[in-house]
Amino acid sequence: MVEAKQLSKVYRSANGEVAALRDVSFSVEQGEFISVIGPSGCGKSTLIKVVGDIIEPSAGSVMVDGLSSRDARMKGMFSFVFQNPVLLPWRRVIENLRLPLEILHRETRDPSHLLDMVGLAGCENKYPGELSGGMQQRVALARALTFDPKVLLMDEPFGAVDELTRDTLNHELLRIWQEISVTIFFVTHSIAEAVFLSDRVFLLSDRPASLKYVLDVPFPRPREDSMKESDAFQESVRCLRDKLE
Ligand SMILES: Nc1ncnc2c1ncn2[C@@H]1O[C@H](COP(=O)(O)OP(=O)(O)O)[C@@H](O)[C@H]1O
Ligand SMILES: [Mg+2]
Repeated sequence: MVEAKQLSKVYRSANGEVAALRDVSFSVEQGEFISVIGPSGCGKSTLIKVVGDIIEPSAGSVMVDGLSSRDARMKGMFSFVFQNPVLLPWRRVIENLRLPLEILHRETRDPSHLLDMVGLAGCENKYPGELSGGMQQRVALARALTFDPKVLLMDEPFGAVDELTRDTLNHELLRIWQEISVTIFFVTHSIAEAVFLSDRVFLLSDRPASLKYVLDVPFPRPREDSMKESDAFQESVRCLRDKLE
């Protein structure tokens, strides 16, 4: 589904050059859940922006379902969720969901079912300021699903919510992922979150990021919270932490 070949990225500015990616190659199946972890500033955000064609690689290529990432983006195959939900505060929740449809002049099918999907039924007419951080992030997720993306690129989406909320959102995300069989790239600081959610965890090296290690997560689905207490889970987390340090 997503095939990255020898991706490199060097940012060039008046202040000089910053190499952010070096020779990153991977192949991801349709419907896989991939987490991306690595030291802070190593190039995680750069990697998923290159995959989603928000920025161009300096070398290498990304193919999605046989298309270049450019063509895939043009066809609306990507969606992003960032750490900051970026909602317009003067628009009601439902109007925030309609925004991408309006901008792209698409037929405005009622997006209420997406609110049901993210557990916000009944919040259509609230303003973002009336919602908690976790609820705002659910709105951002619903908005990201408006165009039925094939690849969902999530950059530390739950990095700013408290731990209990994060656990709930993790379960909801897994439920939605299974419901719509989208391919997910999920950047996180939390090794435990990465292991809990993913089919595979991509561990990046220090900047410029290369793919240092790939963990095949050995746990069955559906994932249960009790799994986090098991020795096997702790062992996977420890293995990744050792490689990260
Ligand atoms: N637009 C940019 N121009 C110049 N340097 C950048 C730009 N975006 C990111 N960088 C640099 O590239 C490196 C990797 O950044 P990023 O991908 O955001 O890392 P991460 O998400 O892993 O924290 C950092 O050193 C960062 O400062
Ligand atoms: Mg980042």
